Amino acid sequence: MNYSASSQRYENMKYNRTGRSGLLLPAISLGLWHNFGGVDIFENGRSIIHRAFDAGITHFDLANNYGPPPGSAEENFGKILAHDLKIYRDELIISTKAGYYMWPGPYGDFGSRKYLISSLDQSLKRMGLDYVDIFYSHRPDPHTPMEETMMALDQVVRQGKALYVGVSSYSPEQTSQAADILGQLGTPCLIHQPRYSMLDRWVEDGLLDTLETLGIGSIAFSPLAQGVLTDRYLQGIPNDSRAGKPTGFLQPDQVTREKLEIVNKLNGIAHERGQSLAQMAIAWLLKDHRVTSVLIGASSVEQLNDNLKTLNNLSFSDDELRRIDEIIS
Ligand SMILES: NC(=O)c1ccc[n+]([C@@H]2O[C@H](COP(=O)([O-])OP(=O)(O)OC[C@H]3O[C@@H](n4cnc5c(N)ncnc54)[C@H](OP(=O)(O)O)[C@@H]3O)[C@@H](O)[C@H]2O)c1
Repeated sequence: MNYSASSQRYENMKYNRTGRSGLLLPAISLGLWHNFGGVDIFENGRSIIHRAFDAGITHFDLANNYGPPPGSAEENFGKILAHDLKIYRDELIISTKAGYYMWPGPYGDFGSRKYLISSLDQSLKRMGLDYVDIFYSHRPDPHTPMEETMMALDQVVRQGKALYVGVSSYSPEQTSQAADILGQLGTPCLIHQPRYSMLDRWVEDGLLDTLETLGIGSIAFSPLAQGVLTDRYLQGIPNDSRAGKPTGFLQPDQVTREKLEIVNKLNGIAHERGQSLAQMAIAWLLKDHRVTSVLIGASSVEQLNDNLKTLNNLSFSDDELRRIDEIIS
């Protein structure tokens, strides 16, 4: 299959500025945590990436450990890049991360300079890239001095291995400290990647305010609560769903009756709005100007198409917002 990108690819996507930086990100970005690993069907992942780029999704998010097996999502993405997207490299924002367990011994986990720098070198090899656009500290490390982790991020930028850096799942206080150190080093903190959805609103408790004050962008991961905030589980747990698969991170016991009651009520409001629940869940995040991008996952082109239609209706009435709040508070 030869791929040539759609000439209309920039016609429907919305692009938002990332904090106070020069970088614009698509309102919807695609993550490769699930569905792109060695256990998955390669051609399915490839079709999803083609459709995403054709629809103006310029940002693809990876991490060293995505798979399974760990590293295989980067390898598969590298193949797709080399085969189909090479000539579009300057139209792509590719991110990767290090911070969770990747290899045995004391140097393959958390936030040391040793781990971050060698992990990024490995990621670049797996993807066949000279540089990534964004490199993240994937999680805070309670035992490594923040200075060391931030100096590693600063160094990869100076080496030309990353254009920008960010942090993921840092608390507001940790984010301020990280941004302060990076600022002193001369490499601004571009972006924070927190979990954020209608079912998990921790970022509203200080993080989004901190990011706005510091001029840092945000990209919300698991916006559909890994699929729970869609119609996927309304009739039980399908075998081919994340909760139904042995390799899925979502465990069946996390799909509780209480959550499904909430999801059913939200589904009613989404239908009144003429949207799918997935679309409403994404739009609900994008209503906040501090959210630069919503980082979705998808296991099929159909799901991606459904999610892309979110952009047709991003506004909420006060009454809808109040009713949604009553359901999820
Ligand atoms: N920084 C971090 O620590 C961290 C952690 C987690 C994720 N992330 C990033 O965030 C990205 C997205 O996370 P996520 O995959 O959990 O996001 P998500 O969008 O909350 O969940 C994606 C899953 O929801 C289901 N889905 C998506 N669209 C649907 C639709 N229209 N209708 C029905 N079901 C739909 C699919 O599940 P099925 O597979 O069941 O079809 C899909 O795999 C990841 O790929 C990764 O890049 C980062």
